[in-house]
Amino acid sequence: MDQPSAEDPAARAAVETRGLTKRYRGGQLAVDSLDLTVPRGSVFGFLGPNGSGKTTTIRMLMGLIEPTAGRARLLGAPMPRAARSVLPRVGALIEGPALYPFLTGRDNLVRFDAADPTADPGTRAARVSAALERVGLTAAARKKARAYSLGMKQRLGLAAALLQPRELLVLDEPTNGLDPQGMREIRTLVRELADDGTTVFLSSHLLDEIEQVCTHAAVMTQGRLIVQGTVAELAAGSRGRLSITTPDPAEAVRVLKEHGVTDIVALEERVTGELPASGGSAPPLDLADLNAALVRAGVRVRAFGTERASLEDAFVALTGEGFDVAG
Ligand SMILES: Nc1ncnc2c1ncn2[C@@H]1O[C@H](COP(=O)(O)OP(=O)(O)O)[C@@H](O)[C@H]1O
Ligand SMILES: [Mg+2]
Repeated sequence: MDQPSAEDPAARAAVETRGLTKRYRGGQLAVDSLDLTVPRGSVFGFLGPNGSGKTTTIRMLMGLIEPTAGRARLLGAPMPRAARSVLPRVGALIEGPALYPFLTGRDNLVRFDAADPTADPGTRAARVSAALERVGLTAAARKKARAYSLGMKQRLGLAAALLQPRELLVLDEPTNGLDPQGMREIRTLVRELADDGTTVFLSSHLLDEIEQVCTHAAVMTQGRLIVQGTVAELAAGSRGRLSITTPDPAEAVRVLKEHGVTDIVALEERVTGELPASGGSAPPLDLADLNAALVRAGVRVRAFGTERASLEDAFVALTGEGFDVAG
């Protein structure tokens, strides 16, 4: 499936940016010196709240707008210079597909396919049927697009991106506005595509979603990249919340406070809190020492541990901000 050429060693990342920057005419610095590396074969989540620069980055990657500074490579080739050779190998869905509402789903795809000069008209019908099948729209193919739900429109947009075999799919907030069922369908589709070897780069402002479907992630705020890596690494970067079960919660709270645990919540026999950050002059808090201190203070401990660290914990630890999970 890879087509290595002199300019495009297959070993190169699917997406690579160095110092990529966009300042809009109004002066808004939307993307600030972005260094992004998306490994081939990954499902890469590009995570950030609204306004953090995700769409701007994607538009630069796809050659739709010019960067103010820096460079971007797609499948190893420089953008926008190599757009003509690279873009046919990249499927994209950016800010909702542009559909003809008065045409059926099938006829919309026929138009997309006809707009592709490399697409053989003789095999068009088969290509369109296969793409409809792939996104589960075969039964609705004869309905007019204006009668489609938001989820169906989004899937039709994906079908358009899948008319040709793609090495890379770039999806900008593909589940935006979808109900939970629609979101599940898109996630399943993304997994299937990844299983076939397609690299998927998808943006989202929903942490949850990234954790469920992505192997890798990058976190953006205000145009800047905070962190990137595998989802497992990112979650491991934070320790998660301390959780203790004890019949002596009041005494436990006192001991935890003494050891620098913050944001303590005591609910009946369960006490949870945030472990103090290590670093600076403070030595890291050893969980074994903390447990021993509880026991010394006469606190009877039934269970002691940290809750599973999530990407959200990592995000909060990195930025000191929460995420608007409801969107
Ligand atoms: N065409 C534009 N002209 C000026 N500012 C823009 C334009 N598009 C986006 N912005 C600004 O750039 C920032 C990043 O926007 P965007 O890339 O759309 O973020 P996201 O996709 O993460 O929500 C925002 O502050 C937004 O208001
Ligand atoms: Mg956006």
